[in-house]
Amino acid sequence: MTKYEIVLHPDQKLKKKCLPISEITNEIRSIGMKMLETMYAAPGIGLAAPQVGVLKRMFVMDCSEKNKASEPYICINPEIKWVSERKSVYEEGCLSIPDFYGDIERPSEIRLSCLNEDGESVEYYFDGLEATCVQHEIDHLNGILFIDYLGSMRRQIITTKMKKLKKQNALLSFSGTIGV
Ligand code: NI
Repeated sequence: MTKYEIVLHPDQKLKKKCLPISEITNEIRSIGMKMLETMYAAPGIGLAAPQVGVLKRMFVMDCSEKNKASEPYICINPEIKWVSERKSVYEEGCLSIPDFYGDIERPSEIRLSCLNEDGESVEYYFDGLEATCVQHEIDHLNGILFIDYLGSMRRQIITTKMKKLKKQNALLSFSGTIGV
């Protein structure tokens, strides 16, 4: 299975509110599988559809520990039903903003309802890393990035560095094309 190319910040696709999925078709299932492949290859523990240029309400996640059985989730039209008052801080990163990290505070526990890849309604309770990951991915579906929680100064610095990186990437792929 081929992988998607991951959309890098800054990009308008990462700022959009994504649309709900009305029907779980084979196409949606194969987008989910391809997103999982892309996430594992990166490697990452979560990936939202807009990060691969698909502006739909879907994300994939696998927070299982290394060398343990994998625990892949494909979550469609996810909705957070409850969050705890207790908060935790995790150092977050994002596949769309590689090599930048920030301490973000979010509710420690959540209840999530969504559809799975078979179109069944499912509800999950998550805490720890998974709770943080789900909230980070749902933010993506609403056009929010973790850097939006950082101070504007830090966000500016990261965005400027990312713009530079993207320019370099574009130059590299261009020289690749013409064989220089
Ligand atoms: Ni992310």
